[in-house]
Amino acid sequence: MNQIYDKVENCLKSVRKVTDFVPRVAIVLGSGLGDYADDIRVEAEIDYKDIEGFPVSTVPGHAGKFIFGYVGQVPVVCMKGRVHYYEGYDISDVVLPARLMKMMGAEILFLTNASGGINPDFKAGSFMMLTDHISTFVPNPLIGPNIEEFGTRFPDMSHVYDEKLQEILRETAKENGIHLNEGVYIQFTGPSFESPAEIRMAASLGADAVGMSTVVEAIVANHMGMRICGVSCVCNLAAGISQTPLTHEEVQQAANEAAPKFKKLLTESVKKF
Ligand code: HPA
Repeated sequence: MNQIYDKVENCLKSVRKVTDFVPRVAIVLGSGLGDYADDIRVEAEIDYKDIEGFPVSTVPGHAGKFIFGYVGQVPVVCMKGRVHYYEGYDISDVVLPARLMKMMGAEILFLTNASGGINPDFKAGSFMMLTDHISTFVPNPLIGPNIEEFGTRFPDMSHVYDEKLQEILRETAKENGIHLNEGVYIQFTGPSFESPAEIRMAASLGADAVGMSTVVEAIVANHMGMRICGVSCVCNLAAGISQTPLTHEEVQQAANEAAPKFKKLLTESVKKF
């Protein structure tokens, strides 16, 4: 058996000791969305630290637990906090939670994050729905022996972000008067923010927003056949586009301010999934 697969399976056993809840939608909450769980009818919770082998985050604002419950009639599992590659974890640990949520039964993965805006039309505090991504600057989480239980050796990545889910997000944003940009998200490793030259490079490659998460999770979820959607809170303008130095505090503050709209978009969309 594959060690990575065994580790996810062990985590599932830990989870099943606490709850047999089967989610349909898995939601990953990015920076500032931590209190989204207030909008869920909670059935069960598990701290990451109580799941054997589960990677626990070290970043302020990323306290970690799974929350199981209902958004409207839809059974969801929500990740309050995620781990990032820059924290020093192996990439297989960074994507373990996404794999685990699929094994819990989730068919849909809703990824959220905070990002820096590269597209000159984007404003700080706005939202971008992911239509595609660039993963080239982070390790591919599928490197190593293929785990057949999860998916095929050479998975197609032509349509990572599900068209129907995108349409629901577009429609929901419109109904709620929320401006929703669309574009390509590029993941860099961090933890340093990018240099202006790196942002010019990313722009020339076709990226609209930059961040330090999400793409590796989308790759493994796509490998496992999940339907995926993603929304980024464009918390700041990226380096060189912004005239001021970037800080984590600024990113968190912008995410907190955008949170009520972000929650609305998330809740009303998930109800239609
Ligand atoms: N760069 C990378 N990650 C980010 C940024 C940024 O400008 N803002 C929020 N997350």
